[in-house]
Amino acid sequence: MPLTVKPLTPVFAAEVTGVDINRPLSDAVFAEIRAAFDAYSILVFPGQPMTDKTQIAFSERFGPLEPTQKSNPATGTVFARQSNLDIKTGEPIPADDRRMWYQKANMLWHADSTFKKVTSLCSVLSARLVPEAGGATELASTRAAYDSLTEAQQAELEDLIVEHDIVYSRGLVGFEYTAEEAAEIPPNRHRLVRVNRNTGRKSLLIGVHAKEIVGWPWSKSRALLDDLLARATRPENTYRHEWRDGDVIVWDNQAAVHRATPYDTVKYRRLMQRTTISYSAEMKAMEAAAG
Ligand code: OGA
Ligand code: MN
Repeated sequence: MPLTVKPLTPVFAAEVTGVDINRPLSDAVFAEIRAAFDAYSILVFPGQPMTDKTQIAFSERFGPLEPTQKSNPATGTVFARQSNLDIKTGEPIPADDRRMWYQKANMLWHADSTFKKVTSLCSVLSARLVPEAGGATELASTRAAYDSLTEAQQAELEDLIVEHDIVYSRGLVGFEYTAEEAAEIPPNRHRLVRVNRNTGRKSLLIGVHAKEIVGWPWSKSRALLDDLLARATRPENTYRHEWRDGDVIVWDNQAAVHRATPYDTVKYRRLMQRTTISYSAEMKAMEAAAG
């Protein structure tokens, strides 16, 4: 069966079928997947129920995996667990529990790991338990946001540096870290404009963790970051995925933002396992190419 890539919107996102991503992939087949990823930013693989082992093997084809932060219940593994189920008991976590509060921040547009020292190339999210209603994930193209700017506006962005801060962004939903926790996750700075090394297409590293443009007054900085996010999330630049059992999505954290949507966390069970691929190998490849 040939690998088929079917665009899901005119702007970005594609569905990939005709390949079993739970089995070892030849270099030739993976090259087709990587090319589709570079072209579409979002790849949806419908109905490919993963185990932790197969998810790790598939994810590692994109690059080295990040360890999971302390605040996630799956810390100590390479998985970030997005679930309303207690990791030990498997029972729903009460709605007012700090862990559920923390997850609410996923409902704000973001890219994963932009607040870290090294950002992320992409994330792989596999649906293990899908609620009967709600819990869709929405994705938006920051490449489309960049493309929507005039050449003069693009030139103004070229050298801007953005400070990303998860203590700031979690504060927006009323989640407070202890001083001890906050000290372990200081802000980090990254270039606003990103370049895909295979296609040369540019995109923006923005989203809720993007606190401010370094050296700019607060209000001017907020106005620009808010405008750029609004451009990315225009309806025509978004794709909404209603999950079905076993679906897998790979999203580009350099060229897209995403957000969770609500579901009844008392009535339903939802378990999504995320692996996050570091940008470190991409940076090395780009340095090598630059000589
Ligand atoms: C994530 C995330 C959204 C969702 O796993 O990084 O933001 O719908 N998930 O679970
Ligand atoms: Mn996320």
